[in-house]
Amino acid sequence: MTNAYFTTIRFNFIWLCAVFAASVSLAFSANAAEAVISLTNQTVTPHVRTLAASCAACHGSNGNAVAGSAVLAGINSSYFTKQMIAFKDGSRPATVMHHHSKGLHEDEINLLALYFSQQKIVPSLSPKPQILKASHD
Ligand code: HEC
Repeated sequence: MTNAYFTTIRFNFIWLCAVFAASVSLAFSANAAEAVISLTNQTVTPHVRTLAASCAACHGSNGNAVAGSAVLAGINSSYFTKQMIAFKDGSRPATVMHHHSKGLHEDEINLLALYFSQQKIVPSLSPKPQILKASHD
């Protein structure tokens, strides 16, 4: 056996170790990302639901507004985030939303964006306006 032969084997071994280490760390980071996502879903959802409930007064249950307010259910999440940031920094004029947005952290806005974008649009169940006929006979 020559020195060159051992050098080649040593080089291949080191190379294989590096590839193995890289794949193990990749697998671990993929698992870590999954863990964060599921942790987020489990721990943050009640908080996000509470925040979303505060929007229901004007934007309806789960974002299904009935009386002409903006429907948030099924909203595009990046559009939602942009509007909330614009309300927050004052670049979008608002009557009330500058107050609501300022109370929210950007992380909360992102989670609300995810929450509302995933809500189903429910057709309005509000009754048709009743037309009363007055009789003066
Ligand atoms: C008191 C009523 C009220 C509440 C509560 C309220 N909103 Fe609004 N929202 C409005 C009004 C009114 C507008 C139109 C902009 C304005 O004049 O402030 C609006 C606009 C928006 C828009 C922009 C919609 C579009 O189509 O561009 C988003 C997004 C939004 N609200 C999200 C929320 C979120 C999230 C909450 C809860 C944290 C919330 N709103 C709470 C009244 C309200």
